[in-house]
Amino acid sequence: MSITIEPKDATLGASITGIDLAQLDDASWDIVKQAFLEFGVLIFPSQALSDDAQIAFASRFGELETELAAISNERPNGEVVDDNDLPYWILRGNERWHIDSSFKPLAAKASCLTAMAVPESGGETQWADMRAGYDALTDETKQRIDGLCALHSNYYSHEMLGQVPRTGDGYGFHTKGAPLRPLVKTHPETNRKSLYIGRHAYGIPGITEEQSEKLLAELIDLAAQPPRVTEHHWQLGDLAIWDNRRVLHRVAPYDYSQPRVMRHTRVAGNPATELAGTLPDVRATMYQPGQIALE
Ligand code: OGA
Ligand code: MN
Repeated sequence: MSITIEPKDATLGASITGIDLAQLDDASWDIVKQAFLEFGVLIFPSQALSDDAQIAFASRFGELETELAAISNERPNGEVVDDNDLPYWILRGNERWHIDSSFKPLAAKASCLTAMAVPESGGETQWADMRAGYDALTDETKQRIDGLCALHSNYYSHEMLGQVPRTGDGYGFHTKGAPLRPLVKTHPETNRKSLYIGRHAYGIPGITEEQSEKLLAELIDLAAQPPRVTEHHWQLGDLAIWDNRRVLHRVAPYDYSQPRVMRHTRVAGNPATELAGTLPDVRATMYQPGQIALE
């Protein structure tokens, strides 16, 4: 079997065939590892890995933050989720550009999905290249943002969706002490700079809440444009893995009456490079729950 790497028609992403991820020898792993750093998103069609094989493959990238999680629009009893269910809000949130776990003290290194059930149309996963996005900025903008940080909170991002997270929702919500992260991240392995933003980012210290929202929205709008975006239309058993240190991702909307189930494994960041700073009291003064109008 010979490995074929087919780059996407974009600044990121490649599809890899001729490889069995359940039986990865060291030479093949070296190729995958290099491609991960070069392309940021790798698609492996028709792998249909078992749970254990997915965990083993993801573990090659580092310690796991989450071994297995179902990203699903179905309740355990098979009914479709609605806005009374926390997973509904997580899925809705996933429709907005984000970095996994950026709102936690330790952000994720990589995330991996296998398609277990897919709708007929829609539900593509999309990725945006924030390395090429940074490179596309004017020197003036680069200078403006190079020293800035933003807070990252999923209380903020869920409230922006129109959900008021409840105590006990148990998804890392917090009202203050949100992690503080530079807007520009230097990739620990490639040394390349990229925009490190997304829907959890808000409240840039030193400017107003409005200026901050505007700047962050402008950066995403500018960066997440062709040729810096790619997507995957899923077939059952396909696997994708992406580098959260360099790309944003989101899911395209689809009809919730059709089941969509993705098996997610998340690789933890390296504490030396993905650990956030803190600014314990900033959020209390810059952002109060309820300040933002609900949808
Ligand atoms: C995720 C995520 C998008 C999708 O698993 O972290 O955002 O396409 N998923 O399901
Ligand atoms: Mn995600």
